[in-house]
Amino acid sequence: MADITLKHVTKQYGDVTIIDQLSLQVAHGEFFTLLGPSGCGKTTLLRMIAGFIIPDTGEVHIGEEDVTRLPAHKRETGMVFQDYALFPDKTVYDNVAYGLRVRKFSSQKIDEKVDRILQRVELAHLKKRYPGELSGGQRQRVALARALVIEPRILLMDEPLSNLDAKLRIQMRDVIRELQQEAKITTIFVTHDQEEALSMSDRIALLRSGRIDQLDTPEGMYSRPLTAYAADFIGGANLIQVASTIFRDSQTEVSIAGGQVVIHRDTSIEARAQVANTPSQLTYQLAARAEHIHIENDTTTAARGIPAHVVFRRYLGFKVTYCLRLSDGSSVMADVPASDDPHKQSGDAVCLRFSPECRLVLA
Ligand SMILES: Nc1ncnc2c1ncn2[C@@H]1O[C@H](COP(=O)(O)OP(=O)(O)O)[C@@H](O)[C@H]1O
Ligand SMILES: [Mg+2]
Repeated sequence: MADITLKHVTKQYGDVTIIDQLSLQVAHGEFFTLLGPSGCGKTTLLRMIAGFIIPDTGEVHIGEEDVTRLPAHKRETGMVFQDYALFPDKTVYDNVAYGLRVRKFSSQKIDEKVDRILQRVELAHLKKRYPGELSGGQRQRVALARALVIEPRILLMDEPLSNLDAKLRIQMRDVIRELQQEAKITTIFVTHDQEEALSMSDRIALLRSGRIDQLDTPEGMYSRPLTAYAADFIGGANLIQVASTIFRDSQTEVSIAGGQVVIHRDTSIEARAQVANTPSQLTYQLAARAEHIHIENDTTTAARGIPAHVVFRRYLGFKVTYCLRLSDGSSVMADVPASDDPHKQSGDAVCLRFSPECRLVLA
């Protein structure tokens, strides 16, 4: 049974629809991520689940209970905010103990629980400090401990890592994921960072203007994007104009600038095009990841590739990135492992081969 169910929730501010008839289900123990650019409605949606915002229409269920109109403090959710929202005049210990005191635990029980969680987030030695005396990463762990200590049924996190420096942000991914797995706690995590989403989540909902563009596992999202928006937002795929498509049994032949590319056929994209109810040929683009575009060395097979010119070559240690211009004037990026670098120069004419993993997506 799902732990969290949203049924056609909508939220408007004035005339602007922020969340539009959105439905989803999160399973018990799942680490579920709401991903999308700033302004797409992630915080609004999370706050509807937490109970800080009531949807205009639709329902929010936690377990079997309809909580749409239940106040936040009665929902058994723990929340971690982007700015941590710690009490500045309370010590680390008192910040973490707060929720337990509200719930009327004995002081002995509070001691036990606070000590255990502070050890778990490696803050036991700082329990007498005030938030102002802590680093960003330490504050973030206090906020996490405060949310977890009440053993909430559901953990909600709104961009909890975005104020940390790059190295700490990556370390904290593992800490959060580990704590979540230990307690098997159903979690909704909000981020605009695709790498965080890919590395931490069981499933990801990619949001676009208050709707779900695609809902998938990290692998599914990266390897089988359905829209240009998803292919671009996750992994920054090259998006190439398609002139025409021919669908064969297991392959699709795609005509692009200067030639034809043969890719694996995936009927789910054709089905989605039909639902979109637009002339399908016009709406497709070819999504090609940089690692799926190869620069041919062999001039005999190269005759069948896509002609291009090198714009620039950028050496990045483990790989080399080439920017290449196609005959229609558009450009694409291709990554080659440094060990296979063909060492082409700006202006060189080359031929490109596209892997069959490239995908048709809807524009
Ligand atoms: N209280 C509000 N009144 C009016 N507009 C709001 C309010 N809260 C959010 N918005 C608007 O709703 C949109 C989505 O906001 P938000 O959910 O915070 O997005 P995200 O968290 O994805 O950046 C934004 O355009 C924002 O300006
Ligand atoms: Mg937000």
